[in-house]
Amino acid sequence: MCGIVGYVGHREAFPIIIKGLQRLEYRGYDSSGVALLNGKINVYKKQGKVADLLAFSEDKDTVSSLGIGHTRWATHGVPNDVNAHPHTSQSKTIALIHNGIIENYDSIKEELSKRGHTFESDTDTEVLTHLIEEVQKKERVSLFEAVRLSLAEVIGAYAIAVIEESNTNEIIVAKKGSPLVIGVGENEFFLASDATPIIEYTKNVVYLEDGEIARLKIGEEMELKTIENVEKTPYIQELELNLEAIEKGGYEHFMLKEIFEQPKSIADSMRGRLDSKTAEVKLGGLAEYEQKIINADRIIIIACGTSWHAGLIGEYLFEDLARIPVEVEYASEFRYRNPIITEKDVVLAISQSGETADTLAAMKLAKDKGATVLGICNVVGSSIARLSDAGSYTHAGPEIGVASTKAFTAQVTVLTLMALMLGRKKGTIAESYYRELISEIETIPAKVESMIGMNDYIKELSAKFKDALNFLYLGRGYNFPVALEGALKLKEISYIHAEGYPAAEMKHGPIALIDENMPIVVIATKKGHYEKVVSNIQEVKARNGIVIAVVTKGDTAVKEIADYVIEIPEVAEPLVPILSNIPLQLLSYHIAVMRDCNVDQPRNLAKSVTVE
Ligand code: M6R
Repeated sequence: MCGIVGYVGHREAFPIIIKGLQRLEYRGYDSSGVALLNGKINVYKKQGKVADLLAFSEDKDTVSSLGIGHTRWATHGVPNDVNAHPHTSQSKTIALIHNGIIENYDSIKEELSKRGHTFESDTDTEVLTHLIEEVQKKERVSLFEAVRLSLAEVIGAYAIAVIEESNTNEIIVAKKGSPLVIGVGENEFFLASDATPIIEYTKNVVYLEDGEIARLKIGEEMELKTIENVEKTPYIQELELNLEAIEKGGYEHFMLKEIFEQPKSIADSMRGRLDSKTAEVKLGGLAEYEQKIINADRIIIIACGTSWHAGLIGEYLFEDLARIPVEVEYASEFRYRNPIITEKDVVLAISQSGETADTLAAMKLAKDKGATVLGICNVVGSSIARLSDAGSYTHAGPEIGVASTKAFTAQVTVLTLMALMLGRKKGTIAESYYRELISEIETIPAKVESMIGMNDYIKELSAKFKDALNFLYLGRGYNFPVALEGALKLKEISYIHAEGYPAAEMKHGPIALIDENMPIVVIATKKGHYEKVVSNIQEVKARNGIVIAVVTKGDTAVKEIADYVIEIPEVAEPLVPILSNIPLQLLSYHIAVMRDCNVDQPRNLAKSVTVE
């Protein structure tokens, strides 16, 4: 979490940093700050959004061509002005921004306190700033060297940028465990947590690797080395991102834009992967590993949040179509429970951001134990993508809204393609059924488009439920993870308590919650336990619950008993989740907007969860 930005060059740094921070606000938004060098280091920081910082800085001196900025998601210390970054050293001549956690900050702080350092904030970051100054003084070395030596003492994760008062044309950056990208312009450098603050200035970027430190100095080539002092040559690559993709494009919220983009993002996630003549699925990134997956004892899917829900759908798909045993694990649990993993296991990590700390740690553990580690990721060049032995990108385009929508449907699309590919290669799926699914999957973008047309209807429906205190989401089979995802989406952006359950489990507990005030979203599409779900709806109605049913177009049985219905186009059962999820996204979105919630930046959340 947290977003960092920096600039050194011939332009005004402040507007570049502010704009960059606004693009990175999805990473954290409880406070923000800048440090600008102009003779001395001016630090301005404010609790709240970047807009609050901008208002606060209005009458301040912001003239500078070197600066660093930070938008925070609090870990150590409450969100307030003092704990906001940048933090400064004892003499206030060094300023630093940090994304990550310095785990051993307490012992370093104790040591430094003994040597007369006093601290203003409760953060781990401030301690690192003081340590750098202490090392610099003691060893009489440059800032670059002082940062390197200090980081050798640090345990934890970081992406940092450091400046000092006497160095008017230099920023030092370093990375371990948190993302950092450097933009290389004409006699200027940019730095940021992702490429979005950089894209309009340069397409040439260097993704710093873990354990690397760089000096960005005007008039010189970037100097790159490891924390262990091994010189390295920066690998400059060209960005493929475009500006349009990261702007709202006339929509009120990124989330709505991203929901509406799904016909395209789903098509993009399939593009070039389906051969229309041979009906063959080609996932280039996995080609070398196909046999390994087919022969695997099992596939262990590791992920968090929405990506974990996509993983659950993957379990149904792989077992159903390819007959490969699957276990789906929360990365955060998997990494700490001494799991049994062998070389015959294939571990598949799913992540939109590619930076989720728990997923990364779980992958590392699986690798150490000899498993093949694959990734399904949206962000090209992200840490998870780089750590994977092989994988597939989802190609959904940048997802800015904190609530994941188009990345989820793209993940499910890629998982479906993967299951189809494996099933055909393994011979576990009848050729006629395979071809039916292939031709149906090609119709999905158009079907999603038709569902986007229901937006007004779902908005009307949302108005009826905007004041509900609780929601229950029920589904069976392929629609059970959809129920979980529907509930997560509602709670994270509208702050209404919601639970997702397998429909048949309702009678083992949640049924006690049902009364005339409880809205229950039931995904009751044709096929897949349809009659059983109809019985579950009867049980809800017998207790006066309010049923909003997601049904297949033309359904009559559910229509008779449900209070409200949302129709989705008919599609083969394994493809249903991509469609049945769409109305639930819209329902959450409209309810949250009607409750005046900040849908793109819900409280306490961040898009990229780079801490444990
Ligand atoms: O970037 P990742 O897919 O690894 O993120 C995992 C979760 O943090 C993420 O899905 C989170 O649950 C979203 N807020 C859901 O909308």
